[in-house]
This record gives sequence, structure tokens and C-alpha cells, in this order.
Amino acid sequence: MLRLTVLGAGYLGITHAVCMASLGFDVLGVDADASRADQLNAGQLPIFEPGLEDLLRAGLRVGRVRFTTSYSEAAAVGDVHFICTGTPQQPGSGHADLSQVRACVAALAPRLNRSCLVVGKSTVPVGTARQLAAELSWACPGAELAWNPEFLREGSAVADTLSPDRIVAGVTSGRAEDILRQVYAGPVSDGTPFIVTSLETAELAKAAANAFLATKVSFINAMAEVCETTGGDVRALARILGADPRIGPAFLQAGLGYGGGCLSKDVRAFRARADELGSGASLAFLREVDAINLRRRAHTADLALKMAGGDLTGTPVCVLGAAFKPGSDDVRDSPALEVAQALAGMGARVTVYDPVALGNARLAFPELAYGGCLAEAAQDAHVVLLLTEWPEFIELKPASLDATVARRNIIDARNVLDPSLWREAGWDYQALGVAEPAQRQADRTSWPHAVSE
Ligand code: UGA
Repeated sequence: MLRLTVLGAGYLGITHAVCMASLGFDVLGVDADASRADQLNAGQLPIFEPGLEDLLRAGLRVGRVRFTTSYSEAAAVGDVHFICTGTPQQPGSGHADLSQVRACVAALAPRLNRSCLVVGKSTVPVGTARQLAAELSWACPGAELAWNPEFLREGSAVADTLSPDRIVAGVTSGRAEDILRQVYAGPVSDGTPFIVTSLETAELAKAAANAFLATKVSFINAMAEVCETTGGDVRALARILGADPRIGPAFLQAGLGYGGGCLSKDVRAFRARADELGSGASLAFLREVDAINLRRRAHTADLALKMAGGDLTGTPVCVLGAAFKPGSDDVRDSPALEVAQALAGMGARVTVYDPVALGNARLAFPELAYGGCLAEAAQDAHVVLLLTEWPEFIELKPASLDATVARRNIIDARNVLDPSLWREAGWDYQALGVAEPAQRQADRTSWPHAVSE
């Protein structure tokens, strides 16, 4: 059986290490942070990911997974080394910061003295793998590089890793393909397509997939903007579009837009790389995808300002949600926290509540106030904003907040509440992508040849 190492114990690395161990491989995870390795060896997950901690503990119990800081140990034991380090956005530019990936290869390569396959999983600009392959084979002639991008989503990382939609094997030899087929024999025998391609196509596959997803979200959010000015309803529009199987309903949830550690930075890095390679015109549209996404955040903050009568100075405001999406405690590029920060910048007294991401939110934005529960955050609020669609917020009923808030104003920035329920209970309910009824009515009556819908 192949022995695997996983380099980098972040979101991707922990998930990959633990899931590979659950498939029966012996896995050694490596991270520069000793306390992180200790924590993982003690069976504690430093991230929130449903199902992953149980799987980690099961792997530790049977001795299939272990974490260390030693690249020497990894080089000595590994037949296959997975690079799973982060590639964040460079400060002040759209480019990806490849320092962690490069440091990982620089630490591993000189220690390798036997035949092995190094497999990149991190999201990197096209052309990176070819460069790393040259460095690697120069340092150790028996070492070969492959690229195998990861498509897992936070919140469903375990299922996405064990039963992926596809496995992409960017390889330069039949030997590398054979090794990756052995690694992924389980999912492939369950029917997962195994697509063999070049290093470049494998790198592009990930960038293109995230660019497409971001474009789909920004498309429906552009329609939301059009609905707001024309009296349309983006919820109904999305249902109609999604019913066409060529379009499909996924990623057509209009609202506050995308965030997190992937889509935003990957869209920018893809465009920056294309510019560098002279293909800038082909990806120029991604600038607009990004701009639409960011406009939704500004629009939501403006909506709250309007609801508060044009002045938020000293006004208590409740923000529901800190995570970039439900099912995660990740607050990287969180649309919810950016809106909270914007409102605080307008003078509002913002209190944020989130069922799992408060710890990370406090670290990232210590200047904001946080409530220990929903009711505490909503106490005396003049405006409530639903910014991350956690189930407990979707199930929220007006009666549970009526006596808590000072004014009955709610912004449903994820389009998940029942507008009539809130309006009937006397709330001013506003959503993104839906003109308010009074406005729609006014639009209709001022139309020269009004027709009934
Ligand atoms: C995304 C991709 O979906 C994964 O395939 C990819 O592997 C991952 O990035 C990555 O590059 O590592 P993730 O960031 O976990 O996964 O989250 P998504 O479920 O894709 O959601 C991204 C954002 O889009 C969230 O902020 C979500 O709220 C937003 N979104 C999603 C919408 O605003 N509307 C939708 O209809 C769908």
C-alpha cells in the first residue's frame, strides 16, 4: 500500500489527510506549526467541518494518520507527497501569493532521495506546476510532479473528498497516472470520472471552475440589481432560469454574494495571470464579476442606512451571520463581516451573532461587538440584517424578535425569509433583488401603458 504525506495542515490538508486515512492509507501530515500538529494528534480539529473530527479520531485510533513538523520524516516515508498549502491573495495585487507552495517544495525537495510522486493540490496560477516540476527533478531525479486540483467545498468537505464529482490528474507520465489511479481507486470504482490531462489543463481546471461559479453568482446578482430598478423579483427569476436544465438551479441564490478563502481570490488571481500571459482580454469580464459581487455589499449597507432614516450614528444594529457561508466558521472575505464593518464605519453600534464563527470573527474584527445569542445581538436594534443563511436564521419568526428589537426593520440579504410573514407582523422587510411593494406599485402606476402581471 502506498504511503502518503500531506504537506500543509490547513482546511484542504487536514481534510485530505484524514479522508485518505479513512480510505486505508497510512498518512503523515506535515505542518510548520507544532502546536497545530499537536492539536491534531490529540484528536482536536482547529477548524469547523461537519464529520471531520470523528474521522480524524478514527484515523488516530487505528494509527493511520499522524501529524508532524518534520519534512525529513515525510521525505523518508512518503511514496506520494500532496502539496496542500494555501495560496492567498498577495496584499495590494490580484496575484496569488505562492510563497507557501514554494517553501513547501524547497523544504521537501532536498530531503528526497528515493523515487516518489509529488502531487500539487493547491490552487495555483497556470504555469506554476511546470516550473516546480523542473526544480523538483533537478533536486531529486527520482521525484516527479503531478497536479491534482481539489474541488471540495467547506461544509461538505468530507463527502466532496470521498465522493468527488471528478478527479483531475495532470501528469507528464504513465507512471504518475498509475500512482494517482491507485490513490483514488476507491472513488473511481464508485463511478467518479478520472480525467487525465496535462499539468496546465489541471491548473486551469480549478481556476476555470471557480471563475464559472463566481460568474454564475454574479450573474444572478446582476439580475437582482436590474430587478431592483425595474420592479422584478429575482427569487422568481432564479426559479425560472434554474428550471432550464441547461442553466440549472445551483449557484443562482441571489443576495449578498460570494466570499470565503477561494472564489474572490481565485477570480482575481486568474485574471492577474491572464494579464501576465497576454490573455487579459479573454478574462476581462471577471473584473465585472468581482465588481458586481462587491457592489452587493455596499448596497446592503446603504439599504440599512436608508431604513434607519439616513443616519446610523449611535444606532443599534443587529447583524446575523459572520461566516462567509453557513456550515463553516471561516470568516475570510466574509461578506457579512464586511457589511458589519461598513455599518460600524457609518457610526452604527453593530452587534454580530453567528452560531459557530464568533471566535474567528472576534480575532479578525476585534473592534465589532458580538452577542452570545441571537436575542442578545438583536436587543434594542433599529435594523436587523440577515447576512449568512444559517438554518436558525432561516427559521426565524417575527414573534421571536418583536419584543426584543426597538424598531421592526429587517434586511434579508440572502433571500431566505418569507416576506409576507414579516410584513404582516408589521415589519419593514427588505430583500436584495426585490423592489419593495410600494415602489413596485408606484412604478406600475407611473408606467404609461400599465398592464396587469
Ligand atoms: C468553493 C468551490 O465551490 C469549491 O468547488 C472549491 O473547491 C473551493 O471554493 C476552493 O477553491 O477551495 P467554498 O468556498 O467552500 O467552495 O464555498 P461555495 O459553496 O462555493 O460558496 C462560495 C460563496 O458563494 C459563499 O459565500 C456562498 O454564500 C456564495 N453563494 C453560493 C451565493 O452567494 N449564491 C449561490 O447561489 C451559491
